[in-house]
Amino acid sequence: MTAEQSTVASMDKIAPIRVLVTGANGQLGRELMLRSDPAYELFGFGRDELDIADLAQCRAAVEQVRPHAVIHCAAYTAVDRAEADADNAYQVNAAGSRNIAIAAREAGAKLAYVSTDYVFDGRSTTPYNEYDETNPLTVYGKSKLAGEQLVQSLHDRYFIVRTAWVYGAHGANFVRTMLRLGEAGGTVKVVSDQFGSPTYTADLAQMLLSLIATEAYGIYHATNSGSCSWYEFAAAIFEEGGLPAKVEPCTTAEFPRPAPRPAYSVLDHSAIRANGLPPMRHWREALRDFMHQLRTPKG
Ligand SMILES: NC(=O)c1ccc[n+]([C@@H]2O[C@H](COP(=O)([O-])OP(=O)(O)OC[C@H]3O[C@@H](n4cnc5c(N)ncnc54)[C@H](OP(=O)(O)O)[C@@H]3O)[C@@H](O)[C@H]2O)c1
Repeated sequence: MTAEQSTVASMDKIAPIRVLVTGANGQLGRELMLRSDPAYELFGFGRDELDIADLAQCRAAVEQVRPHAVIHCAAYTAVDRAEADADNAYQVNAAGSRNIAIAAREAGAKLAYVSTDYVFDGRSTTPYNEYDETNPLTVYGKSKLAGEQLVQSLHDRYFIVRTAWVYGAHGANFVRTMLRLGEAGGTVKVVSDQFGSPTYTADLAQMLLSLIATEAYGIYHATNSGSCSWYEFAAAIFEEGGLPAKVEPCTTAEFPRPAPRPAYSVLDHSAIRANGLPPMRHWREALRDFMHQLRTPKG
């Protein structure tokens, strides 16, 4: 290579997008941190390194990393506990998101805030689009919506990314619970009157990374496509896993919880379509892939 060619080659090399990830030890955060795409350089902060409830810590983390974008996964996610612990849920999901929005804006970094289907009341019978009216029924949903509103008022280059029914290889989730119960055999009762879209963390992480590389700011619904009930989801998990247990449908009324779940929280992906982003694959295909990954020895 001549000197001239080598200069052109080095100018062509695009610097990776520097991304600060909050909640890096959660199930989505850990998935993000395991991505190995040379287009992104990820800097993860778990709760021990960055408590988002502390604005000074948010500013220090952003100053340290100097990110082009922040993917904000940290949240108070204990939906039932939040009903009796509202102050702490708001402190993390509302005030913590405010702090992250302030720090990201001061540093000139884009912000992707991960939100939830729980901002809707679940009374619809057709998929919710990004501009449908929100009406959260729970403290968790209200505190996440407050986080959305603070992000919108304090930052001008944001992606609010609502997702639902998240599962993956890390942390506690429905698929891992069903796999454990399914291996034990017998019969498992699962509610058949709540509908949504299961979402694989690997697909959600990819969507978040794709979004922050754009300037198509706004609200997004990002779940795997298609929908099912929890009962149908459990049956698919047992089938894909070849597990001996049987699944039996039951009603929400049979299993009362402190925080009411939305009966229908299927999200329409109109912003993904409108902005020409790649659609998220069907939940069943994603589940099959996840189960395959679980069975594939690492290394
Ligand atoms: N899981 C779902 O089905 C689902 C559905 C819709 C939307 N979402 C949203 O998706 C995002 C990621 O959820 P996830 O499933 O990855 O949840 P997760 O596994 O509970 O992860 C959340 C992480 O945030 C951390 N955190 C809590 N308070 C914090 C604080 N004050 N400062 C810094 N970190 C703090 C938690 O740490 P500790 O464990 O130490 O508390 C945890 O590691 C969240 O915004 C959630 O609201 C999740």
